[in-house]
Amino acid sequence: MADYIYTLETRLSPDQQKAVTLVLDAAKAAGMNLYLTGGAIRDMITGFPIRDLDFAVQGNALKLQKDLERAGAVIGDADAETRSLLLTLPGGVRAEIAMARSEHYDKPGKAPQMAPATIIEDLRRRDFTVNAMALSLNEGSRGLLMDPFNGVADIEAKVLRVLHNYAFLEDPSRMIRATRFTTRFHWPLEERTQARYESGKENNYIEYIRNASIGYEIEQLAYEDDALGVLKAYEKEGWLKVLNTHWSTAKVDTAGLGALMKTRQQMNELGYTPEVAPAVLYFLTSKLGDKDVADLRRAIPRKDLVEAWKDLEDNARSLAKRLTGKEAATPSRTWQLLSSARPEMILFLAITARQQAVAQKIKSFFTKWRQVQQKIPLPEMTELRITPEMPAYPKIANDVFLLLLDGKLRSRTETLKYLKPLAPPPPPPPPPPPAKRGRAAKAAAAAVAPASVSGKAGKGKGKAAAVAATPHPAERPVATKVAPAVPPAKAAASTKAVAAAKVSDPAKTEASKKPGKPVTAARPTAKTKVKAPVKTKAKAAKTNKTKPKKKAK
Ligand code: CTP
Repeated sequence: MADYIYTLETRLSPDQQKAVTLVLDAAKAAGMNLYLTGGAIRDMITGFPIRDLDFAVQGNALKLQKDLERAGAVIGDADAETRSLLLTLPGGVRAEIAMARSEHYDKPGKAPQMAPATIIEDLRRRDFTVNAMALSLNEGSRGLLMDPFNGVADIEAKVLRVLHNYAFLEDPSRMIRATRFTTRFHWPLEERTQARYESGKENNYIEYIRNASIGYEIEQLAYEDDALGVLKAYEKEGWLKVLNTHWSTAKVDTAGLGALMKTRQQMNELGYTPEVAPAVLYFLTSKLGDKDVADLRRAIPRKDLVEAWKDLEDNARSLAKRLTGKEAATPSRTWQLLSSARPEMILFLAITARQQAVAQKIKSFFTKWRQVQQKIPLPEMTELRITPEMPAYPKIANDVFLLLLDGKLRSRTETLKYLKPLAPPPPPPPPPPPAKRGRAAKAAAAAVAPASVSGKAGKGKGKAAAVAATPHPAERPVATKVAPAVPPAKAAASTKAVAAAKVSDPAKTEASKKPGKPVTAARPTAKTKVKAPVKTKAKAAKTNKTKPKKKAK
């Protein structure tokens, strides 16, 4: 049997893993069983990125709200009807926690009758087999995959199959979802599902779609990687006008959307992960009238998404203003300003900025200013003992970077001159080992010498070896891990730093100065530290004999 917990843990991002733990803790505290369901399970098995986490709890999910908020969750919507929460967990992890429920449809177009149910019953109300699986997160059954419709087989066959013949009639939004998933995964509808879909289109099932489903599907569009591709498919299938009568691909700012995705990719490569959904909606609806935009916003259930969408332009305007003011008078001040700005705002402004100066500053922030980090003399800093172990290191490294950025340190010499006074004093030598006296000491010296790290016998060498067991801190191998001077540009800089620091390792330099002489003899490294002098049997015996004598004195 597949180890789904292992798969889950390896496929979730660290933030998503924390989110699972957080929800699990809240469910446990409330005495509710918790399952991971829907797209997360599908994506976990297929290997597609896990975009959001859908949970089902056996109990009222709304009861978890307070606990989750205390743990840092932002509630986007709390639906009393389905007793479910739409939320964003720390780290920007999108999630839905719904009460496990059964649904019974009396009439198309009418909301189904809902009732609390078991997880297996809950899976029966779902859209496609690949989305109708649940993974238990509960003690006793943790890791158990419930797959009553053989979704795993359909994932392997790469097809989308509805659970029963009335699937599209009962919930016509499933037709829109079918289009969305076929576009995203490039999986076809299974033959009979395709026939039901065509029949649903012919018989205009879509007129029975519920308003809540319309809002939900508008929202889902925002999170598609290829939102324009999905929008085009919706238009072709006739679904776009269902979401809004005036919406069409002609209303999209295609260039803006393209630039958004391209710049997001570049930011990802630099370690930023801006949430693009609000900006996607902005560009998808750029040429729609204000009333239509307002209607779309009203329909979307996740209110934090709507607020972020609404605030985009105002926030960008205020960031642009700051970027043209005193606060950004120098490169270093601009750097600091942009470093503290939300990545979403920088991304949006990068695409929409009208002022050349603003666009240029953002461009420099992402490109040439980052290269200045390479001028930070990391190997020399290591030799000066300005290493990440120093509490002041982040500040020193950052100050140097900012001075370099403003051209106030123009050469390596100038930079080193600036750095030298900041170097910590060399550490004091270690105290000498306690002197041994008398016959016992002589015996001990004789016994220790042959086993010393130098490998050579002799009184003096034996003593040297004893000292070698605790190497002088200055002689310890230097830290090869050098923290990046400036957080966002971490990857490239730190790799270089590691390489540079390795080259300047004093222990290695010492060895290279004295070819043929093992470096451990004169200057012990950390390795020698662990090799404590070996006591010989003879020494042990002599030491034991001498002890009672001492006591007698
Ligand atoms: N669901 C459903 N019918 C709907 C909407 C949702 O059966 N009309 C169920 C499906 O099991 C789905 C889950 O709720 O997997 C979560 O819905 P949603 O987040 O919209 O879809 P995902 O499958 O998670 O896909 P995505 O990757 O787009 O988030």
